[in-house]
Parts: sequence; structure tokens; C-alpha cells
Amino acid sequence: MLKLSKLSAAIAFVVVGASALAGEVEVLHWWTSGGEAKSVSELKKIMQSKGHTWKDFAVAGGGGDNAMTVLKSRVVAGNPPAAAQIKGPALQEWASEGVLANLDATAKAENWDSLLPKAIADGMKYKGNYIAVPVNVHRVNWLWANAAVLKKSGVAGMPKTWTEFFAATDKIKKAGFIPVATGGNAWNDLTNFEPVALGVGGVKFYNDAFVKLDPKALNSDAMKKSLETFRKLKGYTDAGAVGRDWNIATAMVIQEKAGFQLMGDWAKGEFVAAGKVPGKDFLCAAAPGNAGTYTFNVDSFAMFKLKDAAAQKAQADLAVAIMGPEFQEVFNLNKGSIPVRLNMNMDKFDECAKLSAKEFVDTAKSGGLVPSVSQDMALKPAATGALKDVVSQFWNDDKMTPETAMKNMVKAATTK
Ligand code: GAL
Repeated sequence: MLKLSKLSAAIAFVVVGASALAGEVEVLHWWTSGGEAKSVSELKKIMQSKGHTWKDFAVAGGGGDNAMTVLKSRVVAGNPPAAAQIKGPALQEWASEGVLANLDATAKAENWDSLLPKAIADGMKYKGNYIAVPVNVHRVNWLWANAAVLKKSGVAGMPKTWTEFFAATDKIKKAGFIPVATGGNAWNDLTNFEPVALGVGGVKFYNDAFVKLDPKALNSDAMKKSLETFRKLKGYTDAGAVGRDWNIATAMVIQEKAGFQLMGDWAKGEFVAAGKVPGKDFLCAAAPGNAGTYTFNVDSFAMFKLKDAAAQKAQADLAVAIMGPEFQEVFNLNKGSIPVRLNMNMDKFDECAKLSAKEFVDTAKSGGLVPSVSQDMALKPAATGALKDVVSQFWNDDKMTPETAMKNMVKAATTK
């Protein structure tokens, strides 16, 4: 009898203890497309299984520009979410405001330093302390194609150069399809321009222009040629692109309306969510001229300082879940990216993901691995925003000369 009552007291203690530390976690993100929503729901499931309450704070808009605007107003109002999708150099800016929580205790207990590539771990730290947890590695410089459209248009395989690409788009156009599906906003415009510039100008030019913001590279023959190629690309897109979301463009490729899309591998999340099979229904390849290079985009979550102990516990559990092997696998299978956690088993991943994983390692050794400027990996937010505006103005104004665009780029580079 005595034993039993001791046992129930112990059970009561555990139950009370658990519920006392079950907190709410409000998570800001912009993962609202089909593949993205499926991916983020896996995180919600894990958090709920730990007894926490998931409060979804989704702000639609590819690339997160809308989400960042909303986040700023919430933080200024003194009411930040528990966690927010923040990435690249923006992490350092937020940390310098003193609003982010220190995740070192979790990072140490979970061994993050040994589970992450050093360059990525460094990006998650501010003054040596972890302030964010990485989710994945996306490759941005991909070309996607509908296999049936290529076949019906007489295009033999994925084009390797821009010359081959435009020969293919001519054939696709003749066959009555839209050659290139694209979304229509400033983020998407820079996302399209990135592989064009890298493919046309090469790695050194890309780094000089978009990482170092060297005026000589921003105003150069390589940039002029990149802009001309970019304008040529526009000729193969449809008039309805204005204002379109990237995932609607992917749907046009999925539905055999369009041949190609230039997009990061979150597009693969859409193909997969639609039940399409890589290598059969759709094809992936490095964007034209981009072989041997890799523009990376690492998604991450920063945690905001919170006072409530249960909310802090929920935050810590969220960080643990994100880096956990279970989540890393299921999330990235749905998202189109590859795990950021090292030494993960890739057996369940498709050929595109395996290629991405291999080339991530290979290009890191060869020097072909570069931060994606369009996905906020290369520059501080203000400079990225200014560059986005210039590229978008050029895309939308057929009368603007490359010379004017280059002058504007040099100006944009000084934005602080
Ligand atoms: C990127 C983000 C990706 C993907 C994409 C489209 O900024 O890193 O994970 O979601 O936007 O929404």
C-alpha cells in the first residue's frame, strides 16, 4: 500500500512536472506553398508530441520579404514570436539588437559543433554564442524541366550552356508551350538573375560582384552580358507572370504548360507533393553554365528572448527537434533540400538531392561553393534589398539599358 502511494505520488510529480513545462511556441515562417506547408507540419507534429502547443505564424510570400516586415513590427512592439525564420547575415543584425536568446546550453548538450559544417555553425553564432539553429541546405542554381514537354518539343536533354538553353526554348515555343515559367516579383527576379550571372560571368565575377560588391565587377563586361542574357530570358516567359508566386510557376511546369523553371530546390518540394517522380516526370540539372558551382541557401530559426520558463523550455525543445536526425530526414525529403546535419543517411533521398549533397561537398573543395545573393546569404539585408530593386527594375523596364542598370547597381552597393 505504502509502495503504491509512493508510486502514484511519483507519477503525479512527473505529470505535473511535464505539464508545468509544456509551453507554447509561436513560430514565424513563410512556408506556405504545398511542399513547404507539408515540411513545416512535421515540426509542428514533433513539438505537439512533446506536449507543447504550436502557434503557427505564417506570412505568405516566397523569399520571406513580407515575413521580415511583419517580424520587425512585432519586435518593435515588444511582442516577438518565440522563433522566427531568419537567415544569413540578417542573423548578425538581429543579434546585435540584443533581442535573440543564447542557445549555447542546447548546442553544447546536443553537440552541434561536431554535427554541423564549421562554416554553417559559424553563421549561427554571434560573438561565439549560438543564436540560431539551421534547418537545411538548399541549392539555388537549378534548372527544372517537365520531361514530357521537352520530349514533345524535340529537346534531347537538359541544356548545359546558355546557347543550348535558348536553342531549347525556341523549340519549346514552337511546340506551343511556355518555354520558361517564372514568378513575378523582385525576389523572383533576383532568383532568376543569380544563375544567369554566375553562368555567364563565372565564380570570381560572382564573388566580386555579389559578395564583395566590387564596383569594377558591378560595372563590367561580364555584368553587361549577364543583363543581356537575362533580358533574352524574359522573352521566353509569359505576360501573365507579373505578380505570380514562384510555386504557381512550378505548377505550370508540373501541369505540362511550361518547359523550364529556374529556381532553388524548394521547387522540388512542389513536384514531389504533386506525386511527380524525378528523372521520369521532371528533370533537375545545374542551371546552364553553372556546372561545378553551387549557390547555397541555409534556412535557420532564431529564437527570441522570452521570460516564461515553460516558453523557454518549448524553445529549447524546438531547437533540439530541428537538429534531430528524425526531423532532418523527413523535413528535407518534403522540402527539396538536404540535411544540414552531417553524416545523415541519404538512402531515402532522390537523385536530385544526392547530386546536391555530392556537389555541396565537391564545390566546397573546388571553390565553386558560393552564398546565394538572392536568398539573403551573401549580403546584409539592406544591400540585398537595393540590388533586388535594381534587377527587378531592369527586368520590368525593357527600355532600361544595361549601362543604366549597372550604374544603379554600383549605387545600390553603397546602401547600408
Ligand atoms: C527561401 C527559403 C526557402 C523557400 C523559398 C521560397 O527564402 O530559404 O526555404 O521557402 O524562400 O519560399
